[in-house]
Amino acid sequence: MHSDPASVPLTARRNGPLAGRIRVPGDKSISIRALILGALTVGETTVSGMLEGEDVLNTAKALQALGARISRTGEQAWSIHGVGVGGFAEPAGSLDFGNSGTGCRLTLGAVAGCPITATFDGDASLRSRPMRRVLDPLERIGARALVSADGRLPLTLKGARDPMPIVFEPPVPSAQLKSATLLAGLSAPGETVVIEAEATRDHTEKMLRYFGAEVRVEATERNGRRITLTGQPELMPRPIMVPADPSSAAFPLIAALVVPGSDVILQGVMMNPLRTGLVATLMEMGASIERLDERNEGGEDVADLRVHAGALRGVDVPASRAPSMIDEYPVLAVAAAFAEGATRMRGLKELRVKESDRLAATADLLRVNGVALDIEGDDLIVHGNGRAKGGGAVTTHMDHRIAMSAVVLGLASERPVQVDDGTFIATSFPGFVELMRGLGADLS
Ligand code: S3P
Repeated sequence: MHSDPASVPLTARRNGPLAGRIRVPGDKSISIRALILGALTVGETTVSGMLEGEDVLNTAKALQALGARISRTGEQAWSIHGVGVGGFAEPAGSLDFGNSGTGCRLTLGAVAGCPITATFDGDASLRSRPMRRVLDPLERIGARALVSADGRLPLTLKGARDPMPIVFEPPVPSAQLKSATLLAGLSAPGETVVIEAEATRDHTEKMLRYFGAEVRVEATERNGRRITLTGQPELMPRPIMVPADPSSAAFPLIAALVVPGSDVILQGVMMNPLRTGLVATLMEMGASIERLDERNEGGEDVADLRVHAGALRGVDVPASRAPSMIDEYPVLAVAAAFAEGATRMRGLKELRVKESDRLAATADLLRVNGVALDIEGDDLIVHGNGRAKGGGAVTTHMDHRIAMSAVVLGLASERPVQVDDGTFIATSFPGFVELMRGLGADLS
């Protein structure tokens, strides 16, 4: 891939130990849901700890174009005046979600239950990602999509005049798919049911209930869930506190594990059990991670995580764990490079349709830096030997998590690691470079 003229290369070098106490930005999933659900209430929703990353800002702009009044009232403090369920106005132009799959897919769901027509678009990365999977349940609810045969953006959605409640079993484990269906179901009379074969992050269900909707969640066999939403609720605004994003915390956390002598505290990290697969896996690898001051903030479990560097060993990560750590595999693969022995990560099919083909991009980033690995079907096997050569040039593919994973590798490898474009890091983790430098990282 040719680098964009606006791209900014970034180089990570080995330096002394990382030390300090930091708080990573707010959770991306919760920040985006706070905006969308806030836009569906009547009255003012206030949000503190909002992630001010590009994905969230693009979602906010799209919701403003749909009629919600959204303003920044202070540092990470936002106010949303919603239009009520079914109350979106037809936007004047197309909605541009930039890099944000979550913003785009969840807003598709929210628009599907409104009698308006809207065009959805995004950057080259988002334009390459599958949308058919979301359009299928939305069309069953009564929306109509004008979309190319390959099911990619840009697409135009005509919302349902008379939305119908449906029972939907997502063909892939995806919180975005579940959430889009539930958000469309808000406008339908009666019960909309989503039956997940494997539980995925439950922020939409929790926030809907917090805003007053009737949502029933029943466990099904083998860690599945049946979620039943009663349609046409009046959503009541309530304040939202966004906890620190565990998917962002993963980068300084793994950096602290693999840079010798490090001792880092990560404050207020969300510990929702559907998001903690990475911490469980790292503990199995022998990592020293203490959960301090476990508490509940704004309806979510949070803890301060104290991380000490130390030896790691390779493990077998079961496919069943993937939904609880789906965004963490690239950086787990970096940890696996510094472990002793093989780490097999099973069932990574969904990684191929993220901001980039993350399975290929992760393999490339390791390979150019001298780490041995194999891909067998949907499994990634990293052959760790406690060290990495580094010295490689990594292609980001417009993917923030690939960029940050490469940086973490460079902080502990023998030679520096160069990333072709650090700008996409602002998608989910504004201030990443400064925060890491504050811990002692050498980034330029
Ligand atoms: C998200 C769900 C996951 C995840 C994404 C955020 C969400 O995607 O990869 O970063 O907020 O619902 P899928 O639901 O497509 O797996």
